[in-house]
Amino acid sequence: MTRLDFTDRVVIVTGAGRGLGRAYAELLAARGAAVVVNDLGGAVDGTPRDEDPAAEAVAAITGAGGRAVASTASVATEEGAEAIVATAISAFGRLDAVVNNAGIYSVRPWLELPASKYQDFLDVHYLGSVRVSRAAWPHLVASGQGRIVNTVSAAMLGVPDMVHYGSAKGAVYGLTRNLAVAGHAHGIRVNAIAPGAGTRMMDEAKDALPPGTAEFMKEHMPPSMVAPVAAYLAHDDCAVTGEVFNVAGGAVSRLVVGSTAGISDPGLTPETVAERLGEILAVDRVEPAELMLPTPAAGA
Ligand SMILES: NC(=O)c1ccc[n+]([C@@H]2O[C@H](COP(=O)([O-])OP(=O)(O)OC[C@H]3O[C@@H](n4cnc5c(N)ncnc54)[C@H](O)[C@@H]3O)[C@@H](O)[C@H]2O)c1
Repeated sequence: MTRLDFTDRVVIVTGAGRGLGRAYAELLAARGAAVVVNDLGGAVDGTPRDEDPAAEAVAAITGAGGRAVASTASVATEEGAEAIVATAISAFGRLDAVVNNAGIYSVRPWLELPASKYQDFLDVHYLGSVRVSRAAWPHLVASGQGRIVNTVSAAMLGVPDMVHYGSAKGAVYGLTRNLAVAGHAHGIRVNAIAPGAGTRMMDEAKDALPPGTAEFMKEHMPPSMVAPVAAYLAHDDCAVTGEVFNVAGGAVSRLVVGSTAGISDPGLTPETVAERLGEILAVDRVEPAELMLPTPAAGA
């Protein structure tokens, strides 16, 4: 098959100074994309730090012959999101794809975390993805081949001590599905990755995971093994929208949200639910949820 090339394409990758985002930016640039490497630095839980990983990533990309500029704005504010997109337009004159990857992480029992922290997690993961996507939208429409790649997590499906993080990622799942519908008429495709890779987030997750998992991931599941899926989803040839891919260590699968065949009983009572719970929950005939794409207006 033809090599998927990004010549003449401009891509923003948020949180691209390190970890997964950096691997995405490096692969995209190696394939010819001009890349905005966005990263405000900061500790894994979002605490500010005096670091500039975006500049380091840009130096590595340009040193290897690629095209990239750094942006240290935060995805978590409207001004930051607008500045990130403005960087793409002023440096490269267009914008074709956005990879919403920036993220913060911590493991804490839910009642121990102050309510303000829930806001921080929403601001970076959910509202960060909303804000950058909104600022980018007119340019993605103009591209005619706009692509958005969001980042969710297996944590949105329910894991110990990650209510703040997992529920913010769940919001990004809903954003992905609904932006896929909103983008359909403009040729914009919106998908998400639920990644697994041995980044600094795994150092933080170590005690919450089964023994040895974080160490195994650091050794055998580098971010570079997730990057090919991000590149495919950011490419003109991406053939899907509204999908979520689990990606780790070379394994790629579709995450399906679906409905069971269930039961239908016009005389439904609470006792029916109790008695037929097994049938309601049975997963032998699950239908994946479909996107409700807008129907063209009559005569259109
Ligand atoms: N590593 C995994 O196995 C894993 C699993 C599930 C989901 N994820 C998600 O993948 C994404 C990348 O994570 P990673 O593992 O590479 O972690 P990482 O900490 O190495 O990278 C995240 C980057 O985002 C940047 N960032 C944080 N807040 C920002 C903001 N407001 N504006 C701009 N940049 C900001 C950080 O400075 C950091 O460089 C995150 O969204 C994370 O939640 C990772």
